[in-house]
Amino acid sequence: MSPVDDTLTNALAHLGRGPAVSGRSVNLPIDQASTLLFDRLAAFEAARAARYEQGTLYYGRYGTPASFALERTMAAIEGGHGCISVSAGLTAVTLALTGAAKAGAHVLVADNVYEPTRGFCDDILCRYGVEVGYFDPMIGEGLADLFRPDTAAVMFEAPGSGTFEVPDIPAIARVARERGAVSILDGTWATPVFCRPLELGVDVVVHSGSKYIGGHADAMIGFIVCNEASYAPMRKAVLAFGDRAGSLDVFLALRGLRTLEMRMKQAQSAGMAVARWLAEQPQTLAMRHPAFPDCPGHAQWRRDFSGASGLFSVLFKPCSDAQLHAFVDALDLFGVGVSWGGFESLVLPVKPKRTAKPWTAEGRLVRFGIGQESTESLVEDLAQALPKLG
Ligand SMILES: Cc1ncc(COP(=O)(O)O)c(C=O)c1O
Repeated sequence: MSPVDDTLTNALAHLGRGPAVSGRSVNLPIDQASTLLFDRLAAFEAARAARYEQGTLYYGRYGTPASFALERTMAAIEGGHGCISVSAGLTAVTLALTGAAKAGAHVLVADNVYEPTRGFCDDILCRYGVEVGYFDPMIGEGLADLFRPDTAAVMFEAPGSGTFEVPDIPAIARVARERGAVSILDGTWATPVFCRPLELGVDVVVHSGSKYIGGHADAMIGFIVCNEASYAPMRKAVLAFGDRAGSLDVFLALRGLRTLEMRMKQAQSAGMAVARWLAEQPQTLAMRHPAFPDCPGHAQWRRDFSGASGLFSVLFKPCSDAQLHAFVDALDLFGVGVSWGGFESLVLPVKPKRTAKPWTAEGRLVRFGIGQESTESLVEDLAQALPKLG
């Protein structure tokens, strides 16, 4: 079944569910298993031989019926050949990078990736003899000039964390493929509802399912969704590390997926309403929201995405640290905290770290995640707090 032939929400109501059995529960149960039992040694030996294959029940760490159902659902809605579920979004990033690289290799990483992705590259990957080079996310085809014969992977995000530049996904994927490197894109912001990077030529898409997919700020899970060529080696590499998604998180992610499209559409309209209001305020210098024409990569967003989630940043006029704190602390409805994609609105000042191209924008960057509160209430809350910025 192809979810694009039908509406995504229709597909998500049924994907990954088992064959019809009378009286079955709507959701798959929480599948808590370590040892799986076999009636005959021959069956056990066959399972052990096929343990890296999706759907083979061998031992809980290699997957359960529920984790396989979740992986099949993610692969289907992403248009991938296969998916590997892991314990967190960051694990998806680090294992995908490790699976694609090897000692002595060179890896190209976009300058605006999620900061722990950069931390893994700088602090851990380099210890294993992998050289990391950062590139301007807006470089497009120009990435070809940074390639070396030993470049094994390209890691990027669309849009970038905190600063929301939208790269030219097809151009970067094409350059990587032509040179034999694996392209890995963090697609967490858009989810497969608003962007399907594998169809744009990317080899591997990683997601933090802890955000919109789980949707309630209570699950920690990640996904690595692969095209056909990268799937088998990536699954083997990930399983060799011994990582797995927890059973409760698998359950929560599969449940969250059922309503993902509706929640994304709501996040888009609420996010746009609040962002449009913020864009008009005297404290605002610029919007960093892919749907706004002044956001770098807006044209790429229009071309490659079918919508925008409810996470964006605003560049406010320069102010003191005390004024910034006073603004954030004056907000009642916006919680202060990392991550996003749950039901509660969030606020977080952002300090971009850049090495390929310095971040020179004057002013204060603040990220907003718009939750399910009414946009009128959120605007009212922002209106009473904004004067604290001066
Ligand atoms: C773009 C992006 N990728 C990956 C992650 C990591 O996900 P997790 O928190 O599930 O490890 C995050 C978390 O904030 C993120 O924003």
